[in-house]
Amino acid sequence: MAVQTKIAGLGHYVPENIIKNQDLTQFMDTSDEWIQERTGIKERRYGAKHNETTTTMGAQAATMAIEKAGISKEDIDFIIFATLSPDYYFPGCGVLLQRELGITKTEIGALDIRNQCSGFIYGLSIADQFIKTGMYKNILLVGAEMHSMGLDFTTEGRGVTVIFGDGAGAAVLQPTEESGKGILTTHLHSDGTHAEELAFINPGSHGGYHLKDKDFGYPPENEPGGIFVTQKMVDDGQLFPNMNGQVVFKKAVVKFPEVIKEALEKTSLSSEDISLLVPHQANLRISAFVQRSLGLRDDQVFNNIQKYGNTTAASIPIALSEAFQEGRVKDGDLICLAAFGSGFTWGSALIRW
Ligand code: UT7
Repeated sequence: MAVQTKIAGLGHYVPENIIKNQDLTQFMDTSDEWIQERTGIKERRYGAKHNETTTTMGAQAATMAIEKAGISKEDIDFIIFATLSPDYYFPGCGVLLQRELGITKTEIGALDIRNQCSGFIYGLSIADQFIKTGMYKNILLVGAEMHSMGLDFTTEGRGVTVIFGDGAGAAVLQPTEESGKGILTTHLHSDGTHAEELAFINPGSHGGYHLKDKDFGYPPENEPGGIFVTQKMVDDGQLFPNMNGQVVFKKAVVKFPEVIKEALEKTSLSSEDISLLVPHQANLRISAFVQRSLGLRDDQVFNNIQKYGNTTAASIPIALSEAFQEGRVKDGDLICLAAFGSGFTWGSALIRW
């Protein structure tokens, strides 16, 4: 009997601290009207600076997913952690999550993936391969972000900062032999030619030397080693993410429908068969474009960006977990997940619940 991968439990966590659009106007030249009109976002959550991190939020979501799956944390045999805002540059959040959850056994692997907005879908596809080959039985997949610690709260950063929020989502993946159930297909894509259009470039191993057009205040080239962070970087505000919003938007509205259609074609299904599309929550206008180009009704698309902003790798698992809680994901439903973002990387998954 062929083994497929099912989502056995979902969890999510968002911090208590609600930041409304109006709150951001204290720091930068923006408005509630602009943010709502261009993105659909009304508010987002920020983690508590003194006691929350990407890992602790991931652990909250993971605990819920483990409980919903009806297993114990000791049953987890592999962790996949997707984030662009890790606690440390290294080691990654996978091992930190293992420690935070109190999983002391060492017969477990922990993998960190850095695929930003499409991180959850990449993680799902990796988990699917490991389950189908019989290597693992209980994979914990987490997407979590603490963006608020790394955003530019001046007017210069407004094009990026107003969009992002903090939170975490998680899923426990298990094998199933129930015919036709579970992950039906996953599709992953990348195009590195636009890497810098949505990127957090400093600090990095380029050491500034490979970015000749930028002056980061580095020492002369003949000195051994480099300096990871320079005072000039700090002074010039170069330690923040940058995004060419329009380039990302234009690519996203093409790639989202394309990669969803690819999954539908692979499974000989059509958009009418989709019970619920849970897209990466990038921008409500992007979701509306995708909905229109696939001819989906409102009840076939789940959006919660209004409450949480764009939570990057956490956005799909938070949305999926909320949709499940709201009774919008039921036995036998066809669930479609899709994402596009930094890299550029993008992907889709079709799941028969
Ligand atoms: O998670 C996946 C990765 N990210 C995305 O998918 C994001 C995709 N892109 C977008 O969502 C949109 O491009 C944004 C929401 C980022 C920006 O919306 P836009 O309609 O593309 O605006 P724009 O960048 O073309 O900027 C229009 C104007 C500019 O002013 P001028 O030059 O016309 O005077 C900006 O300076 O809006 C200004 N602006 C703002 N004004 C008020 C940019 N950010 C803000 C702001 N508040 N926060």
